[in-house]
Amino acid sequence: RGRPSWPVPGTDFEPVEPNTADAVVVPRGYDQQVVIRWGDPVLPGAPGFDFHNQTAEAQAKQFGYNNDFVGLIPQDPLGRRNLMVVNHEYTTESHMFPVGTYDPENPTEEQVRIGWAAHGLSVVQAVREPRGGLRVVPSRYNRRITADTEFELRGPVAGSDYLKTSEDPEGRTVRGTLNNCAGSVTPWGTVLSGEENFNQYFANAESVTDPVQAERLQRYGISGGASTRKWERFDKRWDIAQEPNEPNRFGWIVEIDPNDPHSTPIKHTALGRFKHEAGSVKITKDRRIAVYSGDDERFEYIYKFVSKGRYKPGRSAHARQHNSRLLDEGTLYVARFTGNSPEEEIDGSGRLPSDGQFDGRGEWIPLASGNTSYVPGMTAEEVYLFTRLAADKVGATKMDRPEDIEPNPRNGRVYASLTNNSDRGAAGKGAADEANPRNGNRNGHVLEWEEDRGDAASTTFSWRLLLVCGDPAAADTYFGGFDKSQVSPISCPDNVAFDSYGNLWISTDGNALGSNDGLFSVPVEGRERGRVKQFLTVPIGAEACGPVVTDDVVLVAVQHPGEGGNPEEPLSHWPDGGDSPARPAIVAVWKKDGGRIGR
Ligand code: FEO
Ligand code: CA
Ligand code: CA
Ligand code: CA
Repeated sequence: RGRPSWPVPGTDFEPVEPNTADAVVVPRGYDQQVVIRWGDPVLPGAPGFDFHNQTAEAQAKQFGYNNDFVGLIPQDPLGRRNLMVVNHEYTTESHMFPVGTYDPENPTEEQVRIGWAAHGLSVVQAVREPRGGLRVVPSRYNRRITADTEFELRGPVAGSDYLKTSEDPEGRTVRGTLNNCAGSVTPWGTVLSGEENFNQYFANAESVTDPVQAERLQRYGISGGASTRKWERFDKRWDIAQEPNEPNRFGWIVEIDPNDPHSTPIKHTALGRFKHEAGSVKITKDRRIAVYSGDDERFEYIYKFVSKGRYKPGRSAHARQHNSRLLDEGTLYVARFTGNSPEEEIDGSGRLPSDGQFDGRGEWIPLASGNTSYVPGMTAEEVYLFTRLAADKVGATKMDRPEDIEPNPRNGRVYASLTNNSDRGAAGKGAADEANPRNGNRNGHVLEWEEDRGDAASTTFSWRLLLVCGDPAAADTYFGGFDKSQVSPISCPDNVAFDSYGNLWISTDGNALGSNDGLFSVPVEGRERGRVKQFLTVPIGAEACGPVVTDDVVLVAVQHPGEGGNPEEPLSHWPDGGDSPARPAIVAVWKKDGGRIGR
């Protein structure tokens, strides 16, 4: 039943059915291959992976753990050679060492150092295989960035007293990046990466007696005594009682220039400090740089930065440095979403209001610009460092966990994943509103907006929900108005990307419908708008990340396969099989006949 349909270009494949396999499952007619996995060599001299004899020295030269964002930067017009940049968000020590050798209460120094080396990013050169897929090759570009790599703090609060530590009395140089979640490739060929749940690495917040400092720590979820990983036992910078400013040096957008393996990566303070999921660029009508970023926690906000200076097109070393510098000065905004349906029609059930849309208008509320604060009672320095507290004061809209946000290069609109929020509508918590219309939101939704005049510098916009995710048979789901009998179930949208036709691709994290996570395509225009189709599923316990969708290859990051299982009876042995430990990995998928994806 239903209207006839013609799969739009890029989405013509047979959808994969929901499953709980310990495998990556791709559509009929497609093939797949692991490109690189945790422990594979990245740098010269890296030993092969040895699960039973891992060392910090080896890990620092090998591919890190829990790959999330994947960026693919072509180095020639045909994309034969590419730089592949990958985030390693976090470590799961109980799965990283042989059973019985890791005591979470008493990790060894070597195990802790392995954890530091398994965080950060990897840059590798990857060449296209004649049959399809990608192969990682030794290259001068190959690079590991870890929790020990030197970063330069830049922008309005570099050198602030709040950023000074005994190791860095200038407040301008930070060792390492942590919890790098999603990201993006900039138009100038660098990578922006978000430092997300950095709170978990810091110990002894409970020792803080100053009420102002205590409130700031608490607002960022930094609390308690010992940290989960006990890093503070081996480096005092993780101990707030000894280094009270160290947490202020994390929670930024970082920029890596993979084209220059000797470049110092940057932490951009003008983009504010919070649990950055990612940062994504759109160029304004007058050629300035806008960066969108979500703060991924329940009832947190969506932000935008707009540079003061003008963008230089191109990917030359000069353009890369010029454009990166533009991220040092501009205006930081936070979003307020206003619905257009009567409040009584937004009852938290997720049923559509009488106008048939969850939609409305929005505005970008300025927080700070250069050294000027727009927030009563806060200096600009405080706004950039304690951005959550600033956004609290200006009436921004508390969202259902803002994950990845990406501008669509074809239709000019911007798309944001709101992954879930089981606390929406709970006693003492925020009630449903038109932009977050479901109480106890377990399956998440996808928001679309267009800036007024199509200009990323606008301070007003129109918005609507593209998807209200979940079981299409349930009354509280919405698939862009498309016939719900013809769509794949989707839950907990996280990373988003676009193919060259402008279709949205969504990878999921935490499928609340009981089957494995995966990657989905969905047209955003025309009669198939909202037609969600599952392109692949990832192994049991894993989250699907990345993704990269080119015309003839799809890359997906399989993060934390087997998570949630007992290490003594592992849920997953993917990808090596047998009794081997599960290993996070990047997978390439292509069409067996060599044709274009979804054609
Ligand atoms: Fe690391 Fe917001 O997912
Ligand atoms: Ca409405
Ligand atoms: Ca994410
Ligand atoms: Ca997530």
